[in-house]
Amino acid sequence: TDIRIGAELIRRRKGGIPLVCLTAYTYPVARLLDPHVDLLLVGDSVAMVLHGHETTLGASLEMMIAHGQAVMRGSARACVVIDMPAGSYEDSAVQAVASARRIVEETGCQAVKLEGGVDMARQIAAIVATGIPVMGHIGLLPQSVEKEGGYKIKGRTDEAIAALLADALAVERAGAFSVVIEGTIEAVAADITRRIAIPTIGIGASPDCDGQILVIDDMVGLTVDRVPKFVKEYADLRSVIAHAAERYAAEVRDRTFPGPAHVFWGSTAFSGTNGG
Ligand code: KIV
Ligand code: NA
Repeated sequence: TDIRIGAELIRRRKGGIPLVCLTAYTYPVARLLDPHVDLLLVGDSVAMVLHGHETTLGASLEMMIAHGQAVMRGSARACVVIDMPAGSYEDSAVQAVASARRIVEETGCQAVKLEGGVDMARQIAAIVATGIPVMGHIGLLPQSVEKEGGYKIKGRTDEAIAALLADALAVERAGAFSVVIEGTIEAVAADITRRIAIPTIGIGASPDCDGQILVIDDMVGLTVDRVPKFVKEYADLRSVIAHAAERYAAEVRDRTFPGPAHVFWGSTAFSGTNGG
């Protein structure tokens, strides 16, 4: 019996108790997060966070599927959404459908996510038409960071605000069940949330969004490079790991580790028969 939260249940949460979303890339982290969240996103941020790539353009379909399978094994309840990596959907609706099908068939995830509004509406509609739920992603689009020459907040001018609203409406009309709004002026995300009928999931957006998402490594203080302004660190795993490594190194060097509890003591019979 499937106890997972489906995309349709997420869609119906519009305007209700905020949706709790986090990224997850691995089995153990999915196990730990699953009881606490509504939705787990296998973000293409995995390319940066776990693989050390400079941008999310380092993600591949194979990478997303491998991490998606790990997260599915570790979660039982959450709606699992997997990012479509750059290069797997932009060219055509046919390409987008083939990639989305592969992701869902090889992982069993509930939905896929892709970046873009007006310009990706055909892809979203085509994937939705095959029965695969799609989450949109508008605003600051990490897959476009090279084209745009950096990470830039969206919605600072009237033209930019109009473009964001057009993107949100296009994603909704194309049939997406929800949409991530990333890196926008606060009032713009709040306004879009009021104007569309599907839940908005904010990141660097607004507390008025229908839900929030953060990158798990950022949220637990494990990110070793620059941490964006919109992140709140709820733990400091950097120092937990560094202190553990420091103590381990000292105990190996002075032979306090392994101690008596960490080694196997042979039976008398075993040592006896093999002795001498
Ligand atoms: O890849 C990712 O982690 C994302 C979220 C930040 C929305 O797309
Ligand atoms: Na992403």
